[in-house]
Amino acid sequence: MRQNLRVNGARLLARLDRLAEEGARPDGGVCRLALGDADKAGRDLVVQWMRELGLTVTIDAIGNVVGLRRGQEDGAPVMMGSHIDTVATGGHYDGALGVLGGLEVVETLNDAGVVTKRPLAVAFFTNEEGARFQPDMFGSLVFTGAMPLEAALATVSIDGRKASEELDRIGYRGPAAVGRPNVHAYVELHVEQGPTLEAEDFTIGAVEGVQGISWTEFTLTGQSNHAGTTPMRMRHDAGYVGAAIAVYARRLALEIGGHQVATVGALTLTPNLVNVVAERAVMTVDLRNTDNERLKQAERRLAAFAAETAAAEGVKLETRTLARFDPVAFAPHLVARVEAIAKELELPVKRLPSGAGHDAQMLAAICPACMIFTPSAGGVSHNIAEYTRPEDLAAGADVLLRLVAELAE
Ligand code: GLV
Ligand code: MN
Ligand code: MN
Repeated sequence: MRQNLRVNGARLLARLDRLAEEGARPDGGVCRLALGDADKAGRDLVVQWMRELGLTVTIDAIGNVVGLRRGQEDGAPVMMGSHIDTVATGGHYDGALGVLGGLEVVETLNDAGVVTKRPLAVAFFTNEEGARFQPDMFGSLVFTGAMPLEAALATVSIDGRKASEELDRIGYRGPAAVGRPNVHAYVELHVEQGPTLEAEDFTIGAVEGVQGISWTEFTLTGQSNHAGTTPMRMRHDAGYVGAAIAVYARRLALEIGGHQVATVGALTLTPNLVNVVAERAVMTVDLRNTDNERLKQAERRLAAFAAETAAAEGVKLETRTLARFDPVAFAPHLVARVEAIAKELELPVKRLPSGAGHDAQMLAAICPACMIFTPSAGGVSHNIAEYTRPEDLAAGADVLLRLVAELAE
């Protein structure tokens, strides 16, 4: 970059803290589920900041928000971004860092009077988390044309609301078209959400790609009956089958090894009473692997086990795919630039894959894309205790600033 610009870390942190007030939980965490009231309040705040920084704000038909900063020339912008929705037990940084880091880059350039050749953009995408609506990342999927708008609008939340109605209710169903975006390159700054950078004393992660993600919902229907009188051989116990699937998923991940992980994050029993055999179990299994063939193997084995176990117990099994994304590799020349810029700034840097899903994996289908990670204390995320040191947040934003300024020339 022409000037040795650095971001203002205190200003970035102040915005992160202020946004965390929207949807603040009494325990210090954040609950800004997609398209809920707290998400609306967060959106309003970030849009206000975008306007104060001179960005031209557009909102598209699935509620993605893009703030555009003019360049010396017209054309496709270099885009920064991420999401501002959170899981129900979220922290201050997951998603917010990429969006507010982008605003910090813009403000740093504004203060220095730098107008880049290409336009810049800061975006936040709807429902990245997928905690309230599935699939996750449907905002960036629709933005890039990988999912039909109508399909995303028709999705129903875990609390029974249609995405279209919630968008209307919070006033974020915008006029901008979706599906054919014109983006020169996309760079997403994000907390690692895993233990590697902190444990190995790195400040920056140059993210090589995102692992494949497979989300399945199993609905098991048996028969509720008396816990004391029903002989074991006469049971149709949906709770038992659900528990067996959960145990199998973990064993499967350990057996396959490598990057394979498996999580049963939701399991609801009906009627959920101490002395009643469960009639119904609804559960989710999240399988991920950087290796798509192994991920497919895990899916096959899990499906076979669920079918056999349900049949043996006389329990009906219904299966629904909630999300399925292949692994994605980021643009090698951008990954190399993240690494090189970190070294120029004397920041210890490591290449690594992302365990979490990100909007960048969708943008990668339409333009060169990459991600910059900063360390997560204790590797903890999707947890109210999520924490990244202020100096690491600023270091990540400095790498973002340099890379974006370079790409915009
Ligand atoms: C999103 O945070 C995911 O990876 O589940
Ligand atoms: Mn995220
Ligand atoms: Mn997340």
